[in-house]
Order: sequence, then structure tokens, then C-alpha cells
Amino acid sequence: MTNNKYNWAILGTGKIASIFASDLKLLPNANLYAVGSRSIGLAKEFASKHVFQKAYGSYEELVADPAVDIVYVASPHVKHYGNSLLCLNNGKAVLCEKPVAMNEQQFRMMIDSAKKNKVFFMEALWTRFIPSFIKCKELIEEGAIGDIKLIESDFCFKAIYDIEGRLFNPLLGGGALLDIGIYPVFLALQLSGKPISIKAFALKADTGVDSACSMLFKHSDNALSVLFCSLINDGQTEAFIHGTEGTIHIKSMWHMSSVVDLIREGEETVHFQFIKPGIGYQYEATEVMKCLDEGKIESSIFSWQNSLDLISTLDAIRKEAGISYPKEIEKL
Ligand SMILES: NC(=O)c1ccc[n+]([C@@H]2O[C@H](COP(=O)([O-])OP(=O)(O)OC[C@H]3O[C@@H](n4cnc5c(N)ncnc54)[C@H](OP(=O)(O)O)[C@@H]3O)[C@@H](O)[C@H]2O)c1
Repeated sequence: MTNNKYNWAILGTGKIASIFASDLKLLPNANLYAVGSRSIGLAKEFASKHVFQKAYGSYEELVADPAVDIVYVASPHVKHYGNSLLCLNNGKAVLCEKPVAMNEQQFRMMIDSAKKNKVFFMEALWTRFIPSFIKCKELIEEGAIGDIKLIESDFCFKAIYDIEGRLFNPLLGGGALLDIGIYPVFLALQLSGKPISIKAFALKADTGVDSACSMLFKHSDNALSVLFCSLINDGQTEAFIHGTEGTIHIKSMWHMSSVVDLIREGEETVHFQFIKPGIGYQYEATEVMKCLDEGKIESSIFSWQNSLDLISTLDAIRKEAGISYPKEIEKL
């Protein structure tokens, strides 16, 4: 629970915007205030469905409303840079969907803008705030599995091949790595830090985006990560963290899981079960409001450095695996 009540706005009326809005309703201090869309019809429809007070037919009008406190940027990857800058330059706190930008250079400009405007900014890496993930980190910090030696994780689902849709369209930043591969990469970085060495391979869809990507990291703490993601097959979407004294298994849909197992040789497996209301997007929203209560422009739980490490690692994987995008969507 946070102290003040905040007027939330949502930029974009797509799939995740709708799910996020449903979770936002769980927070008494979040006022569902405004929605902005490129279409006034879609904005009104969204506002009526989720009971927002205001509907705007452009993102510019949304950020011009002085009553808006926080904007959740829910547009496709390629728009995160421009849309976040629009919000920050208009003095709005920003929670921006993942990946935070198309590349490190774009993200550095976003941080500069947050600093210059003295406005809060955070990447919406919601897994960092999910109770099962927090438990996993705590167990590792307590030494429950000893020293980490191997992180295994995937994120796979068979997506409908639609060349117009966000997932396979290069002009919208499509591809497996940036959309879902970001989660296993996030896990490895959170637990063992930025890799010192990366090997990666990608398969390409007809549109040129990566339909699957496999990655191997070596970390400075002498641990390895074996990670993969795919839009062309279903998969387990699990995570195993193997240490010198045991294993942590974050059960399927690990990025939003409710179950974590601690497995130690000769001992009974310990199951940790978490009951979460909603899907789990409310936890990151709570962090934003807590930071604003405390007058902070950056979260210490998922910091700008965390996002920088993540986007620069994604850049490095792309280079290694030959994943590229048209120049116009990568520019500043
Ligand atoms: N955290 C998570 O679990 C999670 C899950 C899914 C997606 N995401 C992230 O959220 C972002 C949006 O994903 P989504 O699945 O919600 O996408 P989506 O359904 O395609 O919606 C994206 C929305 O962005 C707006 N938009 C602005 N410029 C656009 C353009 N040129 N083309 C298409 N739409 C444009 C549109 O809203 P208007 O027409 O109203 O302007 C559209 O409805 C992605 O970056 C993705 O990585 C995160």
C-alpha cells in the first residue's frame, strides 16, 4: 500500500494494456484516470470497458492533461523510445513496457530525459516484483543452493504467423528474442550478473525476424546460463537454477509463476506456493507509486542500471546471432 493516490494513464489500447488495466483496479491508490490511443474510438471503447475517466484520441493530448501523474507505455517495442520521451518531456512519470527500447543508445537518451526532467522512469519488467521470483532470489541469497553453477530457462509458445502483427513484423520490432527471450536473459542477469562471454544462434522467419534464439552465457562468478526462446513451438517455459548444494525450480510460466520448489539432495523437496490476486502486474505498479511517494525518479529494485545491463546484453546477443532491424526503427 502506498500513501498518495495517483492518476494513471495508459498509452495504447492493445492486449497488454487491457490486462494491465484489470490488475491496476486491484490497487486502491491507483486511480484509473485516462487512456490515450491513436484512435478516439478505441480510446473511448477502452475507457468504457475499464472505467477510465478520460479518453484521448492522440498520445499528445494524453500527456498534455495536467492531471495525469503516471503513464504506462503499452505500445509496440519500436515506439517505446519516442512515446516515453513524449511523456518524460511533459513531466509524466513513466512505466514503460519491455524491452525498454530497441537498443542501448535509445535507452541512454531515455535516462538522460528522466534525469533532465526529474521524472520517474522504470522498465515494466514485472517478473522482478512477482512473489515467486522474490522468493527465488531470497533463497539464493540465504545460500539455500550454495553457489550458482547453471541457470537453465526458456520462454516458448507457438505464435500465429501473422506478418502484419507485432510478433513477426520487423518494422514493429518483432522476433522472439526481444519479445520473450528477454525474460530468460533477465533471469540470468539478475542471478549471475552480466555475462562475460555470449554465444547465440537464431532461426529466421520469412519476414527476417528471429523466430527462435538459443543463448549460452559464461558469467564472472563461474556460472553458465543455457537459455532459449521460440515463437514456433510450445515449450515448458520453466527455470532451473542449479547450485553446488541444490536446485531451485520455478514452475511453468516461470516469469509469473506461483510455485517455486527447493530441491536438495537427501532432503524432501520444499514447495513454496504463492496466491496472487490478478495476473501480477499490480506489483510493478505498486513499486512505481511507492517510488513516487518517496520522491524517487528511479527504482532501486529494478534500476536504470538493471535495464541498461539487459538492453546492452540483448544488443550483444543480436550481434552474435545476426538479428537486425531496419535502420529507421533503431535511430535516435
Ligand atoms: N509484460 C508483459 O507481460 C507483456 C505482455 C505482452 C506484451 N508486452 C509488451 O507490451 C508491448 C505491447 O504489446 P501488445 O501485445 O499489447 O501489442 P498490441 O496488442 O499490438 O498493442 C499495441 C498497441 O500499441 C499502440 N500502437 C502505437 N503505435 C502502433 C503501431 N505503429 N502499430 C501498432 N500498434 C501501435 C496501439 O494502440 P492504439 O491503437 O490505441 O494507439 C496498439 O493497440 C510490447 O512492447 C510487448 O513487449 C508485455
